[in-house]
Amino acid sequence: MTTPTFTPRVFSGIKPSGGLTLGNYLGAIKRFVQMQEEDFETIYCMVDLHAITVWQDPADLRRNTRELAAGFIASGISPEKSILINQSQVPEHAQLGWVFSCVARMGWMQRMTQFKDKAGKNAQNVSLGLFGYPALMAADILVYHATHVPVGEDQKQHLELTRDIALKFNHDYGVDFFPVTEPVIEGAATRVMSLRDGSKKMSKSDPSDASRINMTDDADAIAKKIRKAKTDPDALPSEAAGLENRPEARNLVNIYAALSDKSVDQVLKEVGGQQFGAFKPLLADLAVSKLSPISDEMARLMNDPAEIDKILARGTEQAREITAPILKKTYEIIGMVG
Ligand code: TRP
Repeated sequence: MTTPTFTPRVFSGIKPSGGLTLGNYLGAIKRFVQMQEEDFETIYCMVDLHAITVWQDPADLRRNTRELAAGFIASGISPEKSILINQSQVPEHAQLGWVFSCVARMGWMQRMTQFKDKAGKNAQNVSLGLFGYPALMAADILVYHATHVPVGEDQKQHLELTRDIALKFNHDYGVDFFPVTEPVIEGAATRVMSLRDGSKKMSKSDPSDASRINMTDDADAIAKKIRKAKTDPDALPSEAAGLENRPEARNLVNIYAALSDKSVDQVLKEVGGQQFGAFKPLLADLAVSKLSPISDEMARLMNDPAEIDKILARGTEQAREITAPILKKTYEIIGMVG
């Protein structure tokens, strides 16, 4: 059997189940934008079918999906360079998802730690979709024969499952059809933590709005949240080792480094010795200068949902040129009569 070569192709997705935060931007979207400039075809997806594993108010789902699309575009995902889609509109995702539900084993799924965490004691009462979710995620990726998937650390196990599904499919049908996907895992350095508690991830579901910077926040809100961010009383150290056991200080320095495309050590060389009273205004200025153009553009796009929908409709067409032949071939391999 000859091993086919696969086009270097990136796929990643974000759930439209709430507003976008600085954590999504620095942890994922900024990376997605960079990968457009590398030697990859890039496909980015609003995974609305994943969002409904937990009930979503229909009006919220519509708004969040368009807000996410606006966030992608405003951050620099170009519809000229990337395919931007809404998962439900490309039916091959769900179709291949069913096939993979028949490839994945119960035992594999039962090991998924994210399911165990999310279901908790309530496991009998969550949706079947929440349990099967990783099979659909594998389909999202493999329906494009994607080779590289940028995700956060929390998705690593789902990517391993994606590889297991690809390998089992290939083995069971004696083919070399689905590629073994490379995870591109973001390091802890780009994990953005809560502005109120440096040990918790910045989250769209935190009850305190002051704990996060929303991608829709205007310049005033951004500056105010940074001024009020929790810190400790000490001056900033001049090297990274000095941030140990100072989670809030580390978080603000990490944010500064990520926004300015510098390393933490470079930043500390510049600001080491400063008190937060001096550092916070620098960080606020930087954050406003990088983020408020994005939030302004998001606001403009959100006022023009027809433009967003047009971009997504074009993305659907481009996506299906890839997904329809791959699904067709999958069905042939399995023995479905066409
Ligand atoms: N499971 C991912 C998350 O919760 C979202 C997702 C769905 C995804 N399908 C994907 C990410 C495919 C990468 C590739 O963040």
